Amino acid sequence: MCFHCACMVEGIFLIWTYNFMIDEENNMNFHVLTLFPQMILDGLNTSITGRAIKKGCLSIEAVNIRDYATNKYGSVDDYPYGGGAGMVMQAEPIYLACQDVMKRISTPHPRVIYLSPQGKTFSQKMAVELSKEEDLIFLCGHYEGVDERVLEMIVTDEVSIGDYVLTGGELPAMVMMDTISRLVPGVLNNDDSAVFESFHSNLLEYPQYTRPAEFMGRKVP
Ligand code: ADE
Repeated sequence: MCFHCACMVEGIFLIWTYNFMIDEENNMNFHVLTLFPQMILDGLNTSITGRAIKKGCLSIEAVNIRDYATNKYGSVDDYPYGGGAGMVMQAEPIYLACQDVMKRISTPHPRVIYLSPQGKTFSQKMAVELSKEEDLIFLCGHYEGVDERVLEMIVTDEVSIGDYVLTGGELPAMVMMDTISRLVPGVLNNDDSAVFESFHSNLLEYPQYTRPAEFMGRKVP
């Protein structure tokens, strides 16, 4: 984008031009706290998000919570107080992993999103709001849950992707990151398509057709 300024100084007409470049350098940095980092990387380093990462308008970091285990066995879960089935993810490794990310990023108070079926339901509107952030931290839970104390300490948003229960937060985090990514400048080839596409503007898109003009007796209308 060019911006021209002009003025008269002692009878001389001066004109100068500012050039504004759209900065496609890491418009969005995702940081995912997970026990399955490879799942996140495999899921997002492909297709449109993979291309955007290579282009430099997105970055995705998968932080292995197990690397922050504080006992010699490397375990990150324990039995629930009060009994009950399953294991609960411990507070300390998650807290340390999150602090480590926060130390490295420039956003002073990043949003930390905990994926859970009890959270606020994810929507396109929420994606638009989140796409304006520079850094987003996702916390993926597993087993029977996460020690509530660390959630109270670090989480800013608890989000569900729908009224059903998955085995962990990785797939929901990937759904959110994929949705948010396509709203980040430079990720789609044509930035306008994100704005005008059906879901974003709450309209239903027309059915799409391509060649051949007739397929098994069905013609393109
Ligand atoms: N973890 C398990 N089920 C989930 C859901 N539906 N949404 C977000 N996180 C989850």
